[in-house]
Amino acid sequence: MEVVIVPDAKAGGELIAEAMAELLRRKPEAVLGVATGSTPLPVYQALAARVQAGDVDTSRARVAQLDEYVGLPAEHPESYRSVLRREVLEPLGIPAGSFLGPDGTAADISAACEAYEADLAQVGGVDLQLLGIGTDGHIGFNEPCSSLASRTRIKTLTEQTRVDNARFFDGDIDQVPQHVITQGIGTILEARHLVLLATGEGKAEAVAQTVEGPVSAFVPASALQLHRHATVVVDEPAASKLKLADYFRHTYAAKPRWQGL
Ligand code: PGA
Repeated sequence: MEVVIVPDAKAGGELIAEAMAELLRRKPEAVLGVATGSTPLPVYQALAARVQAGDVDTSRARVAQLDEYVGLPAEHPESYRSVLRREVLEPLGIPAGSFLGPDGTAADISAACEAYEADLAQVGGVDLQLLGIGTDGHIGFNEPCSSLASRTRIKTLTEQTRVDNARFFDGDIDQVPQHVITQGIGTILEARHLVLLATGEGKAEAVAQTVEGPVSAFVPASALQLHRHATVVVDEPAASKLKLADYFRHTYAAKPRWQGL
């Protein structure tokens, strides 16, 4: 995988937004796989700035959701459908009808997961999937020991993830749902380009294990090592535990620009 070390989160956001913009210039109807959480926000802000400046047209783009809480009504402000409407669809001017996501309120969750897999297949799969990483190494909500071959399904969150996400629920862990629907690791690996963004020292250990540790279900993000086009973008604090940091810096500095990300 390629590791790009950037000075800060804003620079990471600019770099990934430009990769998304290039994709949309080449393929205006591309399917962007988007993530929630704090980390991806600089990406969406930088892409929105390009849209406003007329550098890229997102009107034909499709947006696919990575994961969703089970049991939160779609209109709840912290349902990921609501979060993505606020942070991605509206700022980027993408019509609500171009959004694909699983139904976290379905009476039959297994059927909702299968329906979402079918929806992703019907649009030809995800072109570029943006990922965050949990402090426990999760991608999407694939918690440690998720099958590396898993498909979209229901998962139970770890206590650590619920503690991490309580900040979105007035600091009250009891309001954080226990269950989620998440694209499986096998599903995520089918996207044509995976871009993982990690910022801050709190992610340094998970990043080191993802990039330099063994491929292991215990660190779900390490599955990126199996993908032919995976890019890990990290700021200096998140890169602080990488043994090969200098090599990654040198490689990126010497990279032919025509290759893009
Ligand atoms: P964060 O979440 O960006 O808010 O740290 C990342 C994740 O849990 O995947």
